[in-house]
Amino acid sequence: MNALIINCSPVRNGATAEIAGIVRDELSRRYTVRSICIDDYDFSFCKGCRSCHKTAKCVMDDDIPRIIDEFERADIIVSVSPSYWADIPGQYKAFIDRCTPWCNTHEPHASVSGGKKGYSIALRTGPGMRECERIIQSIEHFYGHLEIECCGSMGLCSVEYRENVEPRRGEIISFCKKI
Ligand SMILES: Cc1cc2nc3c(=O)[nH]c(=O)nc-3n(C[C@H](O)[C@H](O)[C@H](O)COP(=O)(O)O)c2cc1C
Repeated sequence: MNALIINCSPVRNGATAEIAGIVRDELSRRYTVRSICIDDYDFSFCKGCRSCHKTAKCVMDDDIPRIIDEFERADIIVSVSPSYWADIPGQYKAFIDRCTPWCNTHEPHASVSGGKKGYSIALRTGPGMRECERIIQSIEHFYGHLEIECCGSMGLCSVEYRENVEPRRGEIISFCKKI
């Protein structure tokens, strides 16, 4: 089975990357794991033209299909996202917007193959879990429209830098054991 871990932050070596690394090490015991960072890819914003509602294709030609290929290869998808202004970072939101050709609310639409399981991990610097829940909702909304089954989530508050992650390693590993 193949697992894909996505660092939804544009920071390649921050707290999100540190958590994604722990998830990678843990899941590598049981799955073939690939890790990507949203910042590895170049793509434009969705222009809202809705051509894809008629054609199931985007009019733009950039790295979005490369990310979707990673989704296609994966049986398990784990999105690890920090809170940026109480939501997912703009880079990940821009990616989700560009997935409209794959959104199941219009016909025709493109699809990734069925049976995929999606997991979400949210982190933030502030103390309240509600903000993590909002981020998880954004990711699960996206998974739902790609017909990726939402199978689990975790929120980590009071995390800012990568050094703040080590004391939470046990929590993260416990979560990974359920994947
Ligand atoms: C632009 C920006 C906006 C942020 N907004 C919030 C916020 O609204 N609430 C919060 O708790 N933390 C916020 N943070 C803190 C991040 O969630 C936290 O530092 C996280 O660990 C960043 O991970 P990263 O460095 O891997 O991107 C923000 C950080 C940045 C850079």
